[in-house]
Amino acid sequence: MAAIEKDFRRSVVYQIYVKSFCDSDGDGVGDLPGITGKLDYLARLGVDYLWLTPFYPSPQRDGGYDISDYRAVDPVYGTMDDFDELVAQAHKREIGIMLDMVLCHTSCDHEWFQRALAGDERYRAYYILRDGRGSSGPGDPGQPPTNWDCAFGGSAWKWEPRLGKWYLHLHDVSQPDLDWTNPEVREACADVVRFWKERGVDGFRFDVVNLISKPEVFEDDLSGQGRSLFADGPHVHEYLRELVARAGIDGMMTVGEMASTTLENCVRYTRPEDHELSMSFSFHHLKVDYAAGKKWELAEPDIGQLRSIFRTWQEGMQAGGGWNALFWDNHDQPRAVTRFGGRAGVGERGGSWERVGKMLAVCDFLMKGTPYVYQGDELGMVNPGYDSIEQFRDVESRNYYQIMLEMGKGPAEALHVVNERSRDNGRTPMQWSSAPAAGFTSGEPWIGIPASARLVNAEAEVGVEGSMFEFYRSLVKLRHASDVIATGEVRFLDAGEEAPKVIAYERTLGDERLVVACSFADAPCRLADLGVEKYEVVLGNYDDAPAPGALRPYEAVVWRS
Ligand code: GLC
Repeated sequence: MAAIEKDFRRSVVYQIYVKSFCDSDGDGVGDLPGITGKLDYLARLGVDYLWLTPFYPSPQRDGGYDISDYRAVDPVYGTMDDFDELVAQAHKREIGIMLDMVLCHTSCDHEWFQRALAGDERYRAYYILRDGRGSSGPGDPGQPPTNWDCAFGGSAWKWEPRLGKWYLHLHDVSQPDLDWTNPEVREACADVVRFWKERGVDGFRFDVVNLISKPEVFEDDLSGQGRSLFADGPHVHEYLRELVARAGIDGMMTVGEMASTTLENCVRYTRPEDHELSMSFSFHHLKVDYAAGKKWELAEPDIGQLRSIFRTWQEGMQAGGGWNALFWDNHDQPRAVTRFGGRAGVGERGGSWERVGKMLAVCDFLMKGTPYVYQGDELGMVNPGYDSIEQFRDVESRNYYQIMLEMGKGPAEALHVVNERSRDNGRTPMQWSSAPAAGFTSGEPWIGIPASARLVNAEAEVGVEGSMFEFYRSLVKLRHASDVIATGEVRFLDAGEEAPKVIAYERTLGDERLVVACSFADAPCRLADLGVEKYEVVLGNYDDAPAPGALRPYEAVVWRS
C-alpha cells in the first residue's frame, strides 16, 4: 500500500502514547494490535496521521524514550507483523503513520553503549566521554566535567568506571547522549530512519532533535541558561539537513520536538527551502504557569503572557515562512483542561471541564499550523489527582518529589506539586468506557485510572450530540474544508482592557475573514470592537448564541464575514 501523502497544512495529527492507548492481551500495557482495533474510532474522528510514541525494545526507565534497539518491536507491544498490519490497516483508512525517532541518545542497554563499555574504541566514539575535573589520572573520577544539570534532576554527567570517563546524559542517567560530531553516528541514525521509511511509514517525529549539536566548548553554565545552553547548537541545521537528505525523507510529514528553542531557529527548521522539517513543536506557551520559569514551582496561568507568546510565534513563523505544530497536551504535559481551569464538575454535561476543553480546542485548531490531538483530548480527559507518590511511575516525578523533600517541602505539598506537574498526568490510560479499568485492559493497568473515567469516556461521547468527541470531530471537518484556516494569514487582535483573559485573532484569505475569541476567564467579560457585528457565528461552545460584545466564562466564538 502506497504511503499516505497529505498536505500537512490541512492535516490533523493524533498522538498515541502506545503504552496507554489500548491493551489487546490483558497484560495491563497498551500494544500495537490494540491500536489496530481502534482504527475505526480514529477514522471516525477524522484524523490524518497517527504519531506513535516509541514501541521499540527498551528497559523503560524513561517510558520507552530509552531505546535499546531501534529496529524492532518490544515484545510487550507486539511483533513486527503486528506493526506491518497496523500500517496496512491504517493506510486502508487513509491514515498515515508517523514514528518517533529518538536519536539524541540511546539507552545504556543499546548494543552501541554495551560495546563502548566493553572497550571497543569505535563505539566509545559514539558517546560523549570526558575526564573529570581535578582528576589525578586514570581511575580517579574527580568532579563532573561541568556543572550541567540533566532534565530529570541532578548532574548531566555520570562517572562510569568501565569507560574510565564521565559520560554525558541530558536526560535520565540511563540515556547517554550520542556524539553527533562523529560522522559514523550521523550515518547510523540516518540508517534507522531509512529502515522505517522502507517499512512503509509516512512520517516522523524527532525527539529533542535540537539538542543533537552540543556546544563547541564544554564550560560551566554560569549565567543560569539551563537547557538553552544545549539547544539549537552550532551544527544543528547542518546535521538535520544531512539526516533528511541521507534518509530520503525530504517532503515527508516530519515534526521536530524543539526544547528551549527560539523563533529564529524554528523558522529555519521548518522553511521548505531549507529542507529540514515540515514543522516544529515549541513549548514556551506551556510554561505560563511556572513560577519564575521553574517547572516545580506552581503559579496560576498568566494568560497575558500566553497571548503574547502565541502572537509572537504565530505572526513570527508566518513572517519567516516557517510552520508551527499546534498542541496543548502530549505525554509530557499535564492535561490542559485541568491546567487552564476546568476543575469543577468533571463529567457533568455542560460542566466547566467541557466548556474549557472545547474552548482550548477552538483556540488551538484555528491558529496557523497543524493541530495535534493527544489521545483523550477529544474526550476531555483530566489529571487523575493521585493520593500517594507510589502511584506515580515517571522517573522525573519521582526524582523531583525527592528533590522537593530535600529542599524542605513537606510530603503533602510535594505531592500536590507532583499532581499538578507530573508527566504521568498525560499518561493515564485512554478512557474507552465506564467499565473497570476504563475498558483499556482486561487486566491490571500499569498505572492507575482517574476516577473521572466513569463519566469521561468514549462510550459516553461518540455519536452523542454536543459531546466533546463530536465537537472535536466537527473541528477536524472544519479544518479539512476551510482554506482560510489551512492557509490564510493570521493576525492577533486586541480584545480590550476589560478582557485581559481573552485571546483573539483573525484569519484572512482574499475577502474571507474569520475572527476567533477565546476566554480563559471564569467570569463574564466585555469585548472591544472586533469588527464582527455583521458576521455570522460559525462555531461556539455554548448552546445558545453569544451576546454581542461580551463573552461568558470560558466561552469560545468563531465569526465569519
Ligand atoms: C522528549 C520526550 C520525553 C523524553 C525526552 C527524552 O522530551 O517527549 O518523553 O523523556 O524527550 O527522550
